[in-house]
Amino acid sequence: MKIIGTGSAMPELAVTNEMLTEYFDTSDEWIRSRTGIVTRHLCSKETLIDLGVEACQKAIENAGIDPKEIDYFICSNVANNYVTPAMSCVVQGKIGATCPCFDISCACTGFIFALDIAESFIKAGRAKKILILCAEEPSKFCDWKGHDRTTSILFGDGAGAVVVTEGDDLQSICTATTSLPDVLWYKHAMEPTPFEDGIEEHVPLQMDGKGVFRTAVTSSCKDVDQVLKEANVNPDDVDLFVLHQANFRIIDAIRNFVGQPAEKFPTNLQHYGNTSSASIPILLDELHREGKLKPGMQLVMSAFGAGFVSGACCIKWSMEK
Ligand code: UT7
Repeated sequence: MKIIGTGSAMPELAVTNEMLTEYFDTSDEWIRSRTGIVTRHLCSKETLIDLGVEACQKAIENAGIDPKEIDYFICSNVANNYVTPAMSCVVQGKIGATCPCFDISCACTGFIFALDIAESFIKAGRAKKILILCAEEPSKFCDWKGHDRTTSILFGDGAGAVVVTEGDDLQSICTATTSLPDVLWYKHAMEPTPFEDGIEEHVPLQMDGKGVFRTAVTSSCKDVDQVLKEANVNPDDVDLFVLHQANFRIIDAIRNFVGQPAEKFPTNLQHYGNTSSASIPILLDELHREGKLKPGMQLVMSAFGAGFVSGACCIKWSMEK
């Protein structure tokens, strides 16, 4: 497959670290030095569906195609207001697409999993043009009422989308899952039936920060190493490492592992925080629109998240600005 269009949409409201000190016992200095995050954008007037629609419309326009040409639509989303129907079904009607669609829930690694599925569909001759949307509002999983400073400072909302079609951009891809449900989890309450004894309460996002950090670095380094070897690419020949935007210290640890200079690791986490699976397609869209991606450039992408899931891929970029 190859990427032929990118798009993204962010909520209007930018929430600074300073603004968060009103709600949490934290400081700008702590958040910056531990994570690199300065602001994050949170949904206020707009909904996640609005952002998803906007990101898709921009990607479709950028690809120069009619929405009706899309054969399949894959949406990566951990949770939104709708439990059912899938978010892709709601967005599909609003963007004028008519193809089958489904959602995947692979936490922050959703974009890599979606690329993997898209590649398989294209290879199998099941689809020619696939729309991928990653739309997330992880800020809504956090414990704002309980003033939990450990998670609420990390996340931001946003949406990123790409259109892919037949091509040779994807050189290698890997996905991995290790069942570690206790390192990062969020439970929402379901309607109880009269036949249950104990009813599970809603539990806001819980995280073993150090556990996530360690697992993220280990899995990402392993995945990056694997896809580089499979594509027969030397780290020196990689132009850009487009990594999941969770924490600059995690990005730095991966950078040390591959022994490459900081200029090869673009970031926007300082502006948006961790937008879960949307982070890579949002960054990709920014780089593309700023003219920083040139045909022939060697890219590596890598993401990790709750599950524990991780994935990486090597892509030879072919799109003109
Ligand atoms: O997509 C995956 C999403 N998750 C992640 O990426 C998280 C990965 N983990 C991390 O990025 C880091 O573990 C954190 C940034 C979450 C935390 O950094 P840390 O260096 O591991 O800090 P810590 O958890 O060891 O906490 C150090 C101190 C503690 O105080 P004491 O026990 O030393 O007195 C915490 O209570 O910092 C305190 N602390 C805070 N202080 C101010 C925890 N959160 C905050 C906060 N503001 N927001």
